[in-house]
Amino acid sequence: MRLLLTALCMLYGASLFAQNKTISIDTKNSSLVFAVGKNERLYQVYFGRKTAGTDYTKFKTTHEAYIGGGLDDWFEPALRMVHNDGNPSLELHYQSHTSTGNADSIQTDIVLKDPAYPVEVVLHFTAFPNEDVIKAWSTISHNEKKPVVLSQYASALLHFDADQYWLTQFHGDWAKEMNMEESRLTNGIHIIDSKLGTRADFYRAPLFFLSLNQPSTENTGELIAGTLAWTGNFRFAFEIDRLNSLRVLPGINNYASDYTLQPGETFTTPAFIYTYSNAGKGQASRNLHKWARNYAVLDGNQPRLTLLNNWEATEMNFNENILSGLFDQTKQLGVDMFLLDDGWFGNNHPRNGDTAGLGDWQPNKAKLPNGIGHLVQEATAKGVKFGIWLEPEMVNPKSDLYNKHPDWILRLPNRQEHLERNQLVLDLTNPQVQDFVYHIVADLLDENKDIAYIKWDCNRPMTNTYSPYLKQQQSHLYIDYTRGLYKVFERVRAKYPHLPIMLCSGGGGRTDYGALKYFTEFWPSDNTDPLERIFIQWGYSYFFPANTIAAHVTNWGKQSLKFKTDVAMMDKLGYDIKVSDFTAKELQFSQQAIANYKRLSEVIWKGDLYRLVSPYDNQRAVVMYVNDDKTKAVLFNYHLYPRRAEVFYNVTLQGLDPNKQYHVKETNLFPGTQSHNAANDKVYSGAYLMNIGFNPSNGGTPEVLSSHVFEITAE
Ligand code: DGJ
Repeated sequence: MRLLLTALCMLYGASLFAQNKTISIDTKNSSLVFAVGKNERLYQVYFGRKTAGTDYTKFKTTHEAYIGGGLDDWFEPALRMVHNDGNPSLELHYQSHTSTGNADSIQTDIVLKDPAYPVEVVLHFTAFPNEDVIKAWSTISHNEKKPVVLSQYASALLHFDADQYWLTQFHGDWAKEMNMEESRLTNGIHIIDSKLGTRADFYRAPLFFLSLNQPSTENTGELIAGTLAWTGNFRFAFEIDRLNSLRVLPGINNYASDYTLQPGETFTTPAFIYTYSNAGKGQASRNLHKWARNYAVLDGNQPRLTLLNNWEATEMNFNENILSGLFDQTKQLGVDMFLLDDGWFGNNHPRNGDTAGLGDWQPNKAKLPNGIGHLVQEATAKGVKFGIWLEPEMVNPKSDLYNKHPDWILRLPNRQEHLERNQLVLDLTNPQVQDFVYHIVADLLDENKDIAYIKWDCNRPMTNTYSPYLKQQQSHLYIDYTRGLYKVFERVRAKYPHLPIMLCSGGGGRTDYGALKYFTEFWPSDNTDPLERIFIQWGYSYFFPANTIAAHVTNWGKQSLKFKTDVAMMDKLGYDIKVSDFTAKELQFSQQAIANYKRLSEVIWKGDLYRLVSPYDNQRAVVMYVNDDKTKAVLFNYHLYPRRAEVFYNVTLQGLDPNKQYHVKETNLFPGTQSHNAANDKVYSGAYLMNIGFNPSNGGTPEVLSSHVFEITAE
């Protein structure tokens, strides 16, 4: 039995549906189909591979499209509402629907209404046919006499009918983000959620794969990849019911978040973004990458800046002289920009460590007597761009801001303050605080027009969470904080639409498409040990394109500079290291690597990603990127800890044109070394490389923690 739906359909031929009318959300390869029942409710009759000529109204299903709580359903609802008269139930009847758009994106809005109460729910879907991605969200409004209370508000609801369900989720902690774990869902409800408020993705990432019938692999299996565009508490519920049907409910976490909705007000849920693949996780990733670059990430198809950051090299111990030397090193290295990290501000409470200064965004006079403008000018004069670090949502108790605006801080009355990294979170539910945070960024940029980049950090989650501003409405805090944050992002972007900004949260505490709309890239982890980074970047690569994943060469790890560089080049290359400690050969190697990266980055940033050999299953990891017209590919090969006499064989490539001839060239070689690879400088057909392949590991047992990069060019 492949799909229960199909089986039931064969058992019961008669239509359950009022009209022979269906609403179909179609992408190139998938269809999500709804039909209106004789009882006027809306049902999901199909989701899966697109099948032309099917009469879905013949399908028998009880999968209501968006289930109201408290009525006649036994499992997890999509929306739970208590009406102004205390009635805790919701019935939703189909009213109408519209579809607008073009071949690239089509929006369908389905209007549902409660027959007994003036409540309207609109289910919104944007289909991106070319990328095979669907974006789904809902809006909830009412005209009752008094407010209603929402206690569950999923962005969407998807039903599946399969023999087995396999969930892949990603969890972590500081410096160990994105560990992939796959398990079979069993009867009952499985939740992946966050209650952290800020830095929401710290322990669990807001994304998953759901495979049907059996675990999917990189190239096989039917699955969806899903993620929520929300920079706050999220919740994915997966519930298997008594008939082994699965419902998936993605949305804002309703934990401590009953939402009082005023008459005439609209509650808009964040978008659930998902893609269907019947060719494994690799295809799902490529769909999401394309979609992200085209629609979801700020300037997703524009070039990124390579950079030298000073955090690992100096932490907060710097002055104008030291920075001036670092500008020279930036130039010498050949990267585009110098990024000044934490520690440049605070006077009454100087930021010389993480105990003081957050909130006081004036340049520290002892370290930087001539201010930021002078630094920007000097960097520019030396031929490098200048970027700067901010953590504008936070405050240290040792700061002027803390003393001046105690009412701007999230913390419980009658309880001890709970500090994390010696800091507290500002109350972004308060419009005055939003304005303050906006001006930290806007004033700095207005005063220093040549600032070319910002790193926006956020180093603590919420605890002891209470807003002085919200008073009796504390259950709005988590949601209104994130909305307040978005208002600030909106204002910054209205004024500075294209300034590159890195989304950082002490590593991967904020990695979601809700924020990436305003950001060009994110910092995946403070852990830059390249061995760890292979796994961390591997994890993020499932959902985010390479040009959004910042990867820096640092002093973490004892591996060779080549290995570190090769790992960072797999994504968005940067440096955070004392270049002055490089040997002459290391400097020469790095300069050449940066030049190579500039040549290859177009393919890495915009190409199709193929994960060829997984570090989860092997002592080597191999990935390749191929550009759209299949004329250029880059292959990265990393050895982890091969056992004694362990031999690695050929790797078959993917995504090439079988009829083209390709020149294989090993690149990024350390000065004084040469390629020993048998395929180096040879020409093969795409068919050969994809069927027989070549051995990027040279044959024999490779050195532990060694790596190779190959440039593959159509002749
Ligand atoms: C956490 C970030 O992840 C680091 O890169 C660095 O910017 C520090 N914060 C600075 O406090």
